[in-house]
Amino acid sequence: MRRQQAEQRLAALRTELHEHAHRYYVLDAPIISDAEYDRLFRELLDLEAQFPELVTSDSPSQRVGGEPLPAFAEAAHALPMLSLDNIFAAEELADFEERVRRRMQSSVQLTWTAEPKIDGLAVELIYENGLFVEGSTRGNGLVGENITANLRTVRNIPLRLHGAEVPERLAVRGEVYLSKKDFAELNRQRAEQGEPLFANPRNAAAGSLRQLDPKITAARPLSFFVYGVADPAALPCSSLTELFPHLRSLGFPVNPLIKFCRSLAEAEEHYHHLQQIRHELDYEIDGMVIKAASFAAQEELGSTARAPRWAVAWKFPAEEAEAVMSGVEFQLGRTGAVTPVAVLEPVRIGGVVVRRAALHNQDEIRRKGLMIGDTVLVRRAGDVIPEVLRPLTERRTGQEQAIVFPTECPACNNALHRPEGEAVTRCRNPHCPAQRLQRIIWFAGKSGLDIEGLGPKNVEKLAEAGLIADIPDIFRLDKERLAALDGWGEKSAEKLLAAVEQAKQTTLAKLLAALGIRHVGETTAELLAARFVDINKLMQAGEEQLLAVDGIGGQTAAALREYFADPANRELIARLLELGLTVQAAEKTASGGPLAGMVFLFTGTLASMSRAEAEERVRQLGGATASSISKKVTHLVAGEKAGSKLKKAAELGIAALNELEFLRLLETAAPDKK
Ligand code: IVH
Repeated sequence: MRRQQAEQRLAALRTELHEHAHRYYVLDAPIISDAEYDRLFRELLDLEAQFPELVTSDSPSQRVGGEPLPAFAEAAHALPMLSLDNIFAAEELADFEERVRRRMQSSVQLTWTAEPKIDGLAVELIYENGLFVEGSTRGNGLVGENITANLRTVRNIPLRLHGAEVPERLAVRGEVYLSKKDFAELNRQRAEQGEPLFANPRNAAAGSLRQLDPKITAARPLSFFVYGVADPAALPCSSLTELFPHLRSLGFPVNPLIKFCRSLAEAEEHYHHLQQIRHELDYEIDGMVIKAASFAAQEELGSTARAPRWAVAWKFPAEEAEAVMSGVEFQLGRTGAVTPVAVLEPVRIGGVVVRRAALHNQDEIRRKGLMIGDTVLVRRAGDVIPEVLRPLTERRTGQEQAIVFPTECPACNNALHRPEGEAVTRCRNPHCPAQRLQRIIWFAGKSGLDIEGLGPKNVEKLAEAGLIADIPDIFRLDKERLAALDGWGEKSAEKLLAAVEQAKQTTLAKLLAALGIRHVGETTAELLAARFVDINKLMQAGEEQLLAVDGIGGQTAAALREYFADPANRELIARLLELGLTVQAAEKTASGGPLAGMVFLFTGTLASMSRAEAEERVRQLGGATASSISKKVTHLVAGEKAGSKLKKAAELGIAALNELEFLRLLETAAPDKK
């Protein structure tokens, strides 16, 4: 390519990459796949390598990410948070090794770590004298956003370091991510609400952490893996081999699949292993990171402005493919929601044959401009149902047909209804047989009572045979009629009945999740169960009481009220209890926890967590909380600027704890659960 041509192409690439980086990092709404972005970025790097004199200071290659969002305070990184160079093939790993060897003065034998590349959001966490004081995003590498309040809601981020010997100041770095299951659930809810969907777990994690309201973040079950420290000199470790166990001993979650390798051949083996098991993991990984283990070697190799020379990210091949969408089916869910599903001509994606893919809702179809007969781009992401990303409009022949949304329920022919402002079209017939079937499947399934032997296929079979028409029928199953089913027999019948019997002993959280109330998933069900303990209390709870539960918002409260106001639902619950369903009076933690019998009252501000979070911790450990001083209170926790409650507590002879004493108490109560 001639220089002038290169100059033009570079300018175009930069504009395009800037635009996509902005959409990706700032708006959390990318319009191209990661694979396409990587390809453009590589083209830029290659061209810049060919014409180094054309590198400009504002080229995307010269900076590490997007601009910080203006809504959060800025947080400067004392040492820049770098990105990684990507490779895509074993030959490139050999090139990497060669580059490393050439740069190394000393002839020491290098060792490596091979780490899963977690598909989340990079964060830095600062600890001062063992306390978590500030957390931030990477931002542009030098300055990120201060998201301390949100990071405190991430359950496995330690708020205080374990162990007696903690450094005065420690900056750790790692990845915040959302599990595949929670990602799918979050998108399902967003589809139902008509909100734009997150493209992948990373964007979902980013979107969750960038909430100005930490309550929203708290309701999203984010997790964290540590993968390094800003300045290794802060700790008594000379290599990653020592660092990871040390970080674990300080209380940080370290990924169990990190492997120490004596050679890059070993790392290559691990890459293939990770690629094989990635779909069984509960979180998304998009490759493997290889790092020189020794800190001395890292220092000797140094970094460019963009990335360290001692590490490289070996990405997995994109799990996307083209397929012809031959039709669209409309499926009915347990809430009556009608969900469009793409029927595809079978296509292999990442070793699996895909025949159907999610289309989410009517608005998504319109936004993507899809038509029947289109060649579409399909992505498979872990356990999540494959998804149609977009049509390849340049492949159109003119034979494509518009997708027509039904106006009547495909199961019961009732008119479908789409409420104003919602994205979901519903069948509102409570007796619709298809909905009823889905409710039974949900109730017995993994997210519900998890009755072994009563998966979707068997529920359908029992329904067809007339043995089950509604949820209570599960507890009225008859051995003889079961045994008489085609392919069954006495043994299978007994086995199922035993599983049903076992499922009768349940908890409030499980039952709530099993009922399939809108917006009430497992996490919300647990929050409700911890607060209300007794189902009758929950059924009677008013809006205010519901909203007082941390993590319960207006929509969920409304859905609960609506559900329990419906006589049919009240009857369902009464019937289940009659049939022997036993809801254990209280959750494990609430009844017998280490803080059982203690009542905590908080006053003033805590430095290490919000008051809501402190209360949540107490409740998780079986303690109770109070909002005003009374004789019932056993412990007063006084933060900074504690007010009159402290004086009153002293008058009542109630023990007062300062923050550190409180944290120590929590730690003693739950030594490995910070
Ligand atoms: S090391 C200077 N290790 O990948 C080294 N990064 O593409 C910087 N990531 O910004 C990162 N898992 O957000 C490292 N085990 C791992 C990682 C990891 C995921 C992310 C991280 C980084 C990005 C670079």
